[in-house]
Amino acid sequence: MKTKLALAGIVALILIISCNRSDEPNSVLLNTGWKFKTGDDPAWATPAFDDRHWGTVDPSQIWEEQGYKGYDGMAWYRLKIPIRSSLKDPNNTKDSLQIMLGKIDDCDQVFLNGELIGENGRTIYSRLKPGNEFTREKGIWNLERRYILALNDPRIHWDNENLIAVRCFDHGGAGGMFGKPFEISMRGLKDHLKFDFASEIFKFSGDSMVTKNLSVINLTGTEPIKGELVIEVFQCDNGIRIYSDRSIVDLPPHLKIEKTATFRKNISVPTILKVSFTEAITRKKITEEVEVPYILTPKSPGAPRINGAKVFGVRPWSPLQYKIAATGQPPLKYLATDLPEGLVINPENGLITGSLKKKGEYIVKLTVENLIGYAERDLKIIVGDLISLTPPMGWNSWNCWGLSVSDKKVRQSADLMKSSGLIDHGWSYINIDDGWEDTHDKNGNILPNYKFPNMPALCSYVHSLGLKIGIYSSPGTKTCGGYEGSLGFEAKDAMNYAGWGIDYLKYDWCSYGNIVPDPSLEQMKKPYKEMKHALRKANRDIHYSLCQYGMGDVWTWGAEVDANSWRTTGDIEDSWESLSGIGFSQAKGSPWSAPGRWNDPDMLVVGWVGWGPSLHYTRLTPSEQYTHITLWSLLAAPLLIGCDLSQLDAFTKSLLTNDEVIAINQDPLGKQAVPISKNDDYEVWVRDLENGSKAVGIFNKTEKSLNVPVEMKDISLNGKWNMHDVWSQVDLGKVRGHFEMKTSPHGARMVTLTK
Ligand code: GAL
Repeated sequence: MKTKLALAGIVALILIISCNRSDEPNSVLLNTGWKFKTGDDPAWATPAFDDRHWGTVDPSQIWEEQGYKGYDGMAWYRLKIPIRSSLKDPNNTKDSLQIMLGKIDDCDQVFLNGELIGENGRTIYSRLKPGNEFTREKGIWNLERRYILALNDPRIHWDNENLIAVRCFDHGGAGGMFGKPFEISMRGLKDHLKFDFASEIFKFSGDSMVTKNLSVINLTGTEPIKGELVIEVFQCDNGIRIYSDRSIVDLPPHLKIEKTATFRKNISVPTILKVSFTEAITRKKITEEVEVPYILTPKSPGAPRINGAKVFGVRPWSPLQYKIAATGQPPLKYLATDLPEGLVINPENGLITGSLKKKGEYIVKLTVENLIGYAERDLKIIVGDLISLTPPMGWNSWNCWGLSVSDKKVRQSADLMKSSGLIDHGWSYINIDDGWEDTHDKNGNILPNYKFPNMPALCSYVHSLGLKIGIYSSPGTKTCGGYEGSLGFEAKDAMNYAGWGIDYLKYDWCSYGNIVPDPSLEQMKKPYKEMKHALRKANRDIHYSLCQYGMGDVWTWGAEVDANSWRTTGDIEDSWESLSGIGFSQAKGSPWSAPGRWNDPDMLVVGWVGWGPSLHYTRLTPSEQYTHITLWSLLAAPLLIGCDLSQLDAFTKSLLTNDEVIAINQDPLGKQAVPISKNDDYEVWVRDLENGSKAVGIFNKTEKSLNVPVEMKDISLNGKWNMHDVWSQVDLGKVRGHFEMKTSPHGARMVTLTK
């Protein structure tokens, strides 16, 4: 018994070591104790200044979120902190000290004990530079702030209190310090040796083989680094090591070695890959861990299955296009019975087209057959005023290609939407974001630029694949990317879009802010009303997507300007801070979300993204990506894939093709989830579904595995309920009163509860 217990203890320990992320040792954290004041005064750099009357601030959050909404301009942060010489490593006199201040939006000057040590991310090594010139650089808000000082730099007051004063300037939008880390530490092995996990992704082959290529890089310019490298893979549920490789490496300055780990694992079980390096002479060790992607979505069966929206809205007389999304072994044959007059179906590709003249509701029976079997489902077509009765699902060019989008990339994405099979799960829009516009000609027609030689041809190509196409503009003179906007040309633009065959318009505030710098609510609505009328006159069902970052609580009036969706936030990024900050703050819009009127927390950041010509694989961990898709589905958010579809890997595809998850996003009731419990460690969100079931999202916000408790009385559920795991699509038995779900670091689970 004792041995068993001891063994269990060791396994538990391994589990903790292997599946939780660890903190950097030997550092001084700078997360708390900061004072803050808007304005500018050189005296605020000095230790003698008395800041006791200043406000306090959390450096990991922008100042807008801490009582300084809309503030742009100068502001200062001050922190008093002792720096102990025990931080120093007696073995290494060449060490330096680094002060890390997360990121700063937009510009900064950093003073240590009254003297300038850094500006806009660059260390200032000399003591002579006067402190008051301040370069207000643009576009550096997302840059790491790390200032490095030699140990004998007199600006450091060892074993005494030190004042760090940060002078900030914000050009507009979010402002001040944010992100992480905030700490002082010695430069050491961890700064000189880099493990590169990001350049190549985990590759899957067959049902269980995983390969990971990684490299280890010596970042120093002068010193070789020698030691032992260990690569291991652990299973998170029981701590068992399933792979291990040891090697001695001797790395000359600036060089790297490449390593490959190939291992067999159960594809659906969370595992972590851990790499450690122990330096030969000092025995110093650094360790890093990455989560191995785990695939929960089961493979689609060979027998037909009908997916996608169960309800579809169209306006009288508008051209209708509905693609029956279905999986199953090809060839599939598509049928629709009780099709109202005016509509036809193509049995080869499942495309229903035509138009309906009279308002009303029609129930159409869809059937999909193959050699193995058939599937049936009802589709409700509602001819009326409202379109987009379920959240739009598609692809948008921005998060991957940014302004480098072109006709070629759009066609390629449309082809891939079809050939990858995404179309069979309900994905339908191919949206061109900013970067397609040229100028308005003398007749007021908007001309696409050289990258888009023929818009009508592009639209009909996309339609021919069974997909829809979207476009982007701004109510201002210029878009955010500096291209031509729609101001003064709204009616003509809408007519042109409709004439080309556009199905979706994203309308982005951008330079309209120059026309009304401090807009009243009516001024915020005005340009969106203008385009609403223009679109309605164009006689084509164009999904109207507002993008003004949530200003004026747009969710309360989006429907009034006839928007089908409205962005509730600024731009998303592929980081946990951005994802969780946006995702978990969406409850405010819940009451206003309804069929045809969706809150839009911005596009998806899974797969290869990059906002320009060069891409990187999302920096979200696999578990964070589960959180992303789970939360966006519960929020009834538009799902717009933002990645390069030509590099769609098995894991990303599994995230985007789980039909049960998608069905929750597309649930015809159209109710957005609300949080029923929320604390620093976890959140539980619940969405009512059309069939009376509840979809429950369970989110772990910590960096450790967590058993998240759910009290069913908080969802007003009495008695026994059948619980079903949505991601792995398996029944979990009956529950009553209370249950707990084991959830990975930053990860999510999703269940339905059905009476
Ligand atoms: C931003 C918008 C992004 C993208 C970009 C294009 O304002 O939030 O999603 O559309 O403009 O310039």
